[in-house]
Amino acid sequence: MSSGRSFYVTTPIFYVNDAPHIGHAYTEVAADMLARWHRQSGDDTWSLTGTDEHGEKILRTATANGTTPQEWADKLVRESWIPLLETIDISNDDFIRTTDERHEKNVQVFLQKLYDDGFIYSGEYSGLYCVGCEEFKPESEVVDGTGEFAGQKVCAIHSKPLERLEEKNYFFRMSDFSQRLLDLYEQNPEFVQPESARNEVIQFVRQGLNDLSISRSSFDWGVKVPWDDSHVVYVWFDALLNYITAVGYGQDDATFASRWPGMHLVGKDILRFHAVIWPAMLMAAGLPVPHRVFGHGWLLVGGEKMSKSKLTGIAPHEITDTFGSDAFRYYFMSAIHFGQDGSFSWEDLSARYQAELANGFGNLASRTLAMITRYYDGVVPAPAEYTEADLKVQRVVAEAVANADAAIEKIALHESLAAIWTVVEELNGYITVQEPWALAKDEANRERLNTVLYTVAEGLRALAVVLSPTIPKATTKLWTALGVEDSLGALTAQPIRSAGVWGQLVPGTTVGALEALFPRIETTDAE
Ligand code: MSP
Repeated sequence: MSSGRSFYVTTPIFYVNDAPHIGHAYTEVAADMLARWHRQSGDDTWSLTGTDEHGEKILRTATANGTTPQEWADKLVRESWIPLLETIDISNDDFIRTTDERHEKNVQVFLQKLYDDGFIYSGEYSGLYCVGCEEFKPESEVVDGTGEFAGQKVCAIHSKPLERLEEKNYFFRMSDFSQRLLDLYEQNPEFVQPESARNEVIQFVRQGLNDLSISRSSFDWGVKVPWDDSHVVYVWFDALLNYITAVGYGQDDATFASRWPGMHLVGKDILRFHAVIWPAMLMAAGLPVPHRVFGHGWLLVGGEKMSKSKLTGIAPHEITDTFGSDAFRYYFMSAIHFGQDGSFSWEDLSARYQAELANGFGNLASRTLAMITRYYDGVVPAPAEYTEADLKVQRVVAEAVANADAAIEKIALHESLAAIWTVVEELNGYITVQEPWALAKDEANRERLNTVLYTVAEGLRALAVVLSPTIPKATTKLWTALGVEDSLGALTAQPIRSAGVWGQLVPGTTVGALEALFPRIETTDAE
């Protein structure tokens, strides 16, 4: 069923200098949760992720490892970045590499257009460059080094020395776009989110923009500038274009028109590239700007941004090997206010796994199915008359689905899960008060027991649907066990926005056995 809406979401494309850590996986999961939600809502959905393979950082890493940048990128993509998608259960529609021909060719098309239209000129550049950020650093982001780098100027993000570069470069007339960008932020307050990020971007652009150096000539690992092959395109200018080259820019106008513009999820450290440089590039080319750029916070370890270069990186499989991909996805999406920084700790992960997933949701599902099996030979009973307590469950379910959907619209992913969790809590409280095991002792209560167990099973049906974008594996198991496959079709085809409509679970459906959705995890330091 189509909703008539279209939704295109992207993650940043990841540098292939190293293997992924949980900070990268965090962006992937957030984009995937959104994509799955929209896909299941009948929106014409497209989700894109990929890898950023050009530039000095990758070149240096490959050289240090005694190989060519292409071979290095191929190895990292094959051995680390593609497997990550499986590790955390990502349902992306496409994966773009900046070394793909479809990308390189159309970066040149874009650049040539800007050149022909007078937005590019050549000049001299001198500045402090951070290879980690792949960016010339303004004075405000340069700090004094400490420890082994004492006495040197270092990047405030990477704490590594900056390099002074003096080159002949091509420049993009970005300064021409300051006012148009300010108008964009003003007229479309949703364009940069969250609010704190928006204010920061406005502040930055108000100071006036400089033209941007968009080529490098001291190395050749990149897309060649079409009119001067002694230069390669600046890696960020090249990378940002992936969002349009992946959906047909330059080669398939119909696909491009149907997908673009989309929305971008990015870490706050790369917000400026996406909310300032990228829309200015698009404006120069006469193309629509993205619907929205959302800057999420950082995963912190010991109070600092987690990163491989600072040796605080945790590989996603270290978590999923023990807890599984669903728990990984649920934990990061529910425990951190999306848009703010969040600290990761194993203790918090274990505690939430046990309390929320195993005891809160998993137990609810297995208890309910066990009772239907025990008291009704596995056949879902038809409800009798509803009492106020039952009607309250129905209201909670309907409100939760509506609130969760509204939160998804605002990209408040944590808020969406909090709304859904009101159903888990309501159903657990309802079972405690209704005591179906006590009702089952007396045949005179049979009708009441019918209603109570139908109510919980139907609540679980709604939960399976709205939780499926976050915990796809567990909800698929639950869906199959609820026996709804036959009567309602596949879980992924369930229209999510009408999941709160009461009464979709058909009485008479036979339920199956359900293994523990979130089994108890024995930790080595357990009692
Ligand atoms: N290649 C560029 C992006 C180009 S997009 C046209 C890049 N790559 S990256 O691999 O360094 O980072 C990709 C994303 O991972 C960024 O959004 C960044 O914010 C995110 N994260 C890296 N470390 C992170 C945390 N510790 N926490 C959350 N996200 C983090 O930048």
